[in-house]
Amino acid sequence: MSSRIDVCVLDDASAVAVAAAGLFAELLRRRPDAVLGLATGSTPEPVYAEMVRLHRDEGLGFARARAFNLDEYLGLDGDHDQSYRFFMQKHLFDHVDIFPWNTFVFDGKTADPEQECLAFEAKIRAVGGVDLWLLGLGTNGHIAFNEPGSDPTSRSRVVTPDAETAEANSRHFADPAEVPTEALTAGVSTILDGRQIVLVALGAHKADAVARAIEGNRSPDCPASLLQGHADCTFLLDRAAASQLS
Ligand code: GLP
Repeated sequence: MSSRIDVCVLDDASAVAVAAAGLFAELLRRRPDAVLGLATGSTPEPVYAEMVRLHRDEGLGFARARAFNLDEYLGLDGDHDQSYRFFMQKHLFDHVDIFPWNTFVFDGKTADPEQECLAFEAKIRAVGGVDLWLLGLGTNGHIAFNEPGSDPTSRSRVVTPDAETAEANSRHFADPAEVPTEALTAGVSTILDGRQIVLVALGAHKADAVARAIEGNRSPDCPASLLQGHADCTFLLDRAAASQLS
């Protein structure tokens, strides 16, 4: 079966960022109270820089928007500089007019992770679902912290990131031993329930995962390939990330 994923190959990271931020801008202009699904990692950083620029220079408003983040490290406080809450404040929330009470990132310090996941899913349901998820991509094909083998019907839950993921993410930590061994993540189903999905991938080190996601079998072995089952999913790629597509 051919993939239903739309693929858009652009010249470089900044063109990818402009295109991804443009999808969010178009959504927010059409629906100011939109429900945004957001990601962390190096890849989305220029996307948020462009959203901030659109807010500052072109009046893009977030005052009625709600935002849900894909994942968070278990055990890290939102003030920890490697927490995903900290990342979101630093790269987006502190620079636009979104209200803090409309930003939902798992609480990494929760005393009850299972309840935290149930509450996250309930909040998404209460606002009518996510309109547009932004996703990055792991070199092993993971989306959020849904690692190879993740159940396609999975919902938000506690997971143990793979060694490859921990190794890749350790570059952000002063001491690799500090990388948390557990995380909270939106499930594959939580992501697939979104009305629209845009995945961004940059660089040759993502090319194999990109090719498996788009042209490989739809299988939990490559969680991003499960996006083939979604009706409105676009991959925004630079040339290097697209280099292994046939
Ligand atoms: C982490 C996050 C993912 C992200 C991935 C890729 O593992 N949990 O959501 O997509 O990193 O990050 P980067 O964009 O830095 O390559």
